[in-house]
Amino acid sequence: MTKPVIDIRQVSKLYGGKHENKVYALNNVSFTMVEGEFIGIMGASGSGKTTLLNVISTLDQATEGTVMIAGTDITRMKSGQLSDFRAKQLGFIFQDFNLLDNLTVHDNIALPLSLQDVPAAEIKQKVKHVMENLGIAELADKYPATISGGQRQRTAAARAIVHEPALLLGDEPTGALDSKNATSLLETMKKLNEEQNISILMVTHDAMSASYCRRILFIQDGRLVKEIVRLGPRESFYQEILGVLSEYGSARSSGE
Ligand SMILES: Nc1ncnc2c1ncn2[C@@H]1O[C@H](COP(=O)(O)OP(=O)(O)O)[C@@H](O)[C@H]1O
Ligand SMILES: [Mg+2]
Repeated sequence: MTKPVIDIRQVSKLYGGKHENKVYALNNVSFTMVEGEFIGIMGASGSGKTTLLNVISTLDQATEGTVMIAGTDITRMKSGQLSDFRAKQLGFIFQDFNLLDNLTVHDNIALPLSLQDVPAAEIKQKVKHVMENLGIAELADKYPATISGGQRQRTAAARAIVHEPALLLGDEPTGALDSKNATSLLETMKKLNEEQNISILMVTHDAMSASYCRRILFIQDGRLVKEIVRLGPRESFYQEILGVLSEYGSARSSGE
C-alpha cells in the first residue's frame, strides 16, 4: 500500500566549472518518502534546501545519483518529458501564490487542467470538487484582488492539487506570511495531508511551520545530518525542533 513517492539515492549536486570554486550544494543525499507523508526539510541558509527541492521537482538536475519520483527515474528523462511529468505529477505552493489577477478563482484553479487539455466537463467537475473541499465554492466567479488573503491561499492550494499530483511541494510557503496567515495555510496543508492522503514536502527554516510536519530532515552543508519524527503533540515537537536547530542550524523561532 505504501508506495514510495520519492526515492533518491546518493544524490550530489556540484556547482562550479573547471576554474571556479566548486560547491557541493548536495552531497550524497539519500532518502525515501512514502505516499501520505508530510515531510519538512530544514537547515541554515545555504545548506542546500532549495537545491534539494529543485532536484526533486525536476527544475534542476543532480550531478550524481538517481532520483525516482512516483516510480519514475527522472534523471533519465529529456526536457520535454520532464515538463510533461512536472505538469501531471507535481503540485506547487508558491510563496506569493502566483494567482493570475485577470482570471477568476475558478479559472485560476482550472489552469493546471486547461494547460493539459483536459475536457471542459471534467475540468468543471474537478474544480468544483476541490473548491468545495477547501470551502471556497462561493468564490468561483470572483477575482483574486477582491478576496481575502486566506481565501487566496486556499485558491492557490486548490490549484496546486486539482490535477491530483503525486506530490505537493513548497519552498518556504509561509515565508512571506504573517503568523495568522501562516497558521491558516499550514492548517490547510495539514487537512490535505490527513484527509486526502496528499504527500507533501515542504522546505522551511521556521520551527512553527515545521512542527506541522510528521517527519523532518535536517540538512547541513548539502548533507542530511539528522531526522526526527513527530510522535506526540505539535507543541512538544516544536520544542524538539528548536533543540535540533540549536545544534545543527540557525534557529528561528521569534514572532510566531
Ligand atoms: N546556481 C548556483 N550556482 C552556484 N552555486 C549555487 C547555485 N545555487 C545554489 N548554489 C550554492 O549551493 C549552496 C546551497 O544553496 P541553496 O540550495 O539555495 O540553499 P538554501 O535553500 O538552503 O538556502 C549554497 O552554497 C549556494 O551558494
Ligand atoms: Mg532556499
